[in-house]
Amino acid sequence: MDEIAVEIIPAMMVAIVARQTAMDRLYAQKVVEMMNRDDLVLFAARREHEGYVDNYIGRVSLWLAEPDEPEVWKYARDAALINALYVNERARSQGIARALMLAAEQEAVDRGRKLLAVGVESSNDVARRLYESLGYAYRKCGDSDTYKTSWDEDAEHGGATHVEVEAMLMVKALG
Ligand SMILES: CC(C)(COP(=O)(O)OP(=O)(O)OC[C@H]1O[C@@H](n2cnc3c(N)ncnc32)[C@H](O)[C@@H]1OP(=O)(O)O)[C@@H](O)C(=O)NCCC(=O)NCCS
Repeated sequence: MDEIAVEIIPAMMVAIVARQTAMDRLYAQKVVEMMNRDDLVLFAARREHEGYVDNYIGRVSLWLAEPDEPEVWKYARDAALINALYVNERARSQGIARALMLAAEQEAVDRGRKLLAVGVESSNDVARRLYESLGYAYRKCGDSDTYKTSWDEDAEHGGATHVEVEAMLMVKALG
């Protein structure tokens, strides 16, 4: 049986992970810059089989610095942020996102963080179900259940599309 291995990716490997998991080039550059300031940890997953390792099939960023979206620290002060969770289409529904999330959560705990947050598009039922099953709860943004934001959405073959979205903030207390 193949094992799913989740690794912390060093800066010199980011371009490879980006290529194999359809990560936008500009986001990959930002990841390296933030990593060099110890503001971000990138995790990637691949399969291991009897000592052999395959290409990367998914990734997630643990964002330790103040998030670009002001709503996150407005409504979830000092939370570390789960960002850019993505699993290649062919590898979905096999527990890879869950394994990536658990690795990112453990790193946040090890770094003494008390709160994790993630912004999820309200129409993204699959991601919402995943976060709910991991114990994330919806946090109201003032009087509203959602906040308006815009972000770059991954395209399957790299690149990104800038989209305006109605997002929900989900949080999980750690430790
Ligand atoms: C969301 C995403 C990362 C899930 O990846 P995945 O590896 O398929 O997820 P997992 O196999 O670990 O599944 C974990 C949970 O997610 C939910 N889930 C996964 N696939 C699902 C599907 N097709 N339908 C409904 N729920 C699903 C379930 O709750 C599942 O738990 P379960 O297996 O106990 O039922 C993946 O679909 C993806 O990359 N989507 C595009 C990018 C994206 O939306 N990222 C999230 C941004 S906030």
